[in-house]
Amino acid sequence: MNRWTTLIEPFRIHSIEPIRTTTRQQREHSLEEAGFNLFGLRARDVLIDLLTDSGTGAMSTEQWAGVQRGDESYAGSESFYRFRDAVRELFPFEHVIPTHQGRAAEKIVFGILGGTGKVFPSNTHFDTTRAHVELTGAEAVDLLAPEGRDPGELHPFKGNIDLDALEALIARRGADRVPCVVMTVTNNSSGGQPVSMENLRGARAVCERQGIPLFLDAARFAENAWFIKQREPGYGDRSVSDIVREMAALADGMTMSAKKDGLANMGGWIACDDDALAERCRALLTLTEGLPTYGGLSGRDLEAVAQGLAEAVDEDYLRHRVQSTAHLGDALHTAGIPVFRPTGGHAVYIDARALLPHIPPLEYPGQALAVALYLEGGIRGVEIGTVMFGRRPDGSEVPAAMDLVRLAIPRRTYTRSHLDYVIEVACWVGGRAAELRGMRIVSEPPVLRHFGARFEPLPTDARSLTLPAACDARRLRRSPSETSAQSSVAANPSR
Ligand SMILES: Cc1ncc(COP(=O)(O)O)c(C=O)c1O
Repeated sequence: MNRWTTLIEPFRIHSIEPIRTTTRQQREHSLEEAGFNLFGLRARDVLIDLLTDSGTGAMSTEQWAGVQRGDESYAGSESFYRFRDAVRELFPFEHVIPTHQGRAAEKIVFGILGGTGKVFPSNTHFDTTRAHVELTGAEAVDLLAPEGRDPGELHPFKGNIDLDALEALIARRGADRVPCVVMTVTNNSSGGQPVSMENLRGARAVCERQGIPLFLDAARFAENAWFIKQREPGYGDRSVSDIVREMAALADGMTMSAKKDGLANMGGWIACDDDALAERCRALLTLTEGLPTYGGLSGRDLEAVAQGLAEAVDEDYLRHRVQSTAHLGDALHTAGIPVFRPTGGHAVYIDARALLPHIPPLEYPGQALAVALYLEGGIRGVEIGTVMFGRRPDGSEVPAAMDLVRLAIPRRTYTRSHLDYVIEVACWVGGRAAELRGMRIVSEPPVLRHFGARFEPLPTDARSLTLPAACDARRLRRSPSETSAQSSVAANPSR
C-alpha cells in the first residue's frame, strides 16, 4: 500500500497538444455563430473540452504501437482476431461483431429486435439508444430505481433499475412484446451512476422468469466494475476483470461503444450468444458497416481497442480516473454548487434546475448554464435535460426528469490543474447564477434535437433578479481564491 496520499496521474506525458485561450468577446461571437449550441462550436475555440468522454481520450504508447501493426486486409484481418479475443477475454460471448461506434451497434440490434408495439425497458436509455428504439416504432421505457432520482441522495448504486417496476411493466405489456431489457452500465443519462451486481442479478432473474434476454449497454463497464469493487460487499478482493466477466455472465448480449472504456477514439461492437440473432446482425452489418471482420473500422482501430481493453481494467488507471472525477465533484459540492452525488465515474453533473430555480425547465436551465461556463471560461460541457429529452415522439414538449449540465472528463487527457481551473470558473458562474437567463429554441432537427438546435437567450425579466435559495452566493464568490492560489478568472473573467 502506498503511504503517500497525493493523487498523481498514473502516466507521464509523451506528446502534447496545445490548447488555445480566447477572449470573452471572441467566445461571445463564437456562441452567436453556433446558435448558442455548444455542439456547433469549433473545437479550437474551446479551452477545456468536457463535452464528452467519448472518443476524446489519449492513447497509450502500446495503443499507438498497435496502430502501426494494424492489418488492413479487407477480409480476415489479424487485427480482427486480436480484437475479438480481447473482447472475449472480458465478455466471453460466442459472437463478437465489430461496428464503427456504439450507435451503429444499436441501429442494427434494435432495428432487428424493435418494431411497433414492442417495448424496451431499461435503467435509463442513453439518447442514441432511445432514438434507435423509437425509430423502429417501439417504446423505450426508463425504470430508474427511486434512489437514482434524488440528485442529493448518497446511495452507492444510483444507476440501478427498479426491479418491481420492471416486473410490473412486463406483466402489463406482456413478455412477448418485450424483446430485451437494456442495462446501461454505468448509467450515463442518470448521473453516470453505477449499477450493482445485485441489481444486475435481480434484472437477470426477472428476465429469466419471463424468457426475455438481458442486454448490456456496456460503454463504461470498467468504471462500473470499479465501483462494484469499491462499494459492494464481497467484491473488494476480486480483480476488475473478474467482476466484468461476472457482469457479462448475467447478460445474453451487449452493445458497446469502445470510445469510452475501450480507450479508443473510434469503435464499438455487438456481442451475443444467440446464433440466429448474430446471423441477422452480420447480414445488416455487411450492408451498413462492412464485412463482419472489420465492421466499419480499419485494422488499426481494431488494434487500438484490443489494447485499450487491457488498459481499461488496470486498477491504477481506474483509481486515478474515478478519484479525479470525484475531486471535481466534491470541490463543486463544497462550494455550494448542487451536483449529482455521489460523483459518477466519467463526469460531474451539475443540477442546473436547482442552481437556477428562476429558469423554468422549458426555458432550459441546463443550456443556460452550459452556455455561461463556455462564455466565462471557455469550458464546454453539455446539457442533459429538457433540450435532450423534452421532445416526445408525438411532437409535444415536456420537462425532462432533471435538468443537468454534464462535465465529462476525457480519459488520460487533462491533469489536476485543468480540473482546478474548471472548479474556479464554475464557482465564479455559480456565484452569479441569479443573473443567468433562460433560452428559447429557434430551430431544431426532427431527431436528437440537442445536436443541431439553435437557441437564443431570453430577455432578462424580474424573476431572474431573485437569488436562488439553493445556492449561497457569498460562499461561492469566495471559493475561487480558496480553490486556487491564482484566482485570475474571478478577477478577469474574460479568459
Ligand atoms: C451509455 C451509452 N451508450 C451508447 C452510446 C453511443 O455510443 P457512440 O457515441 O459510440 O455511438 C453512448 C455515447 O455516449 C453512451 O454513453
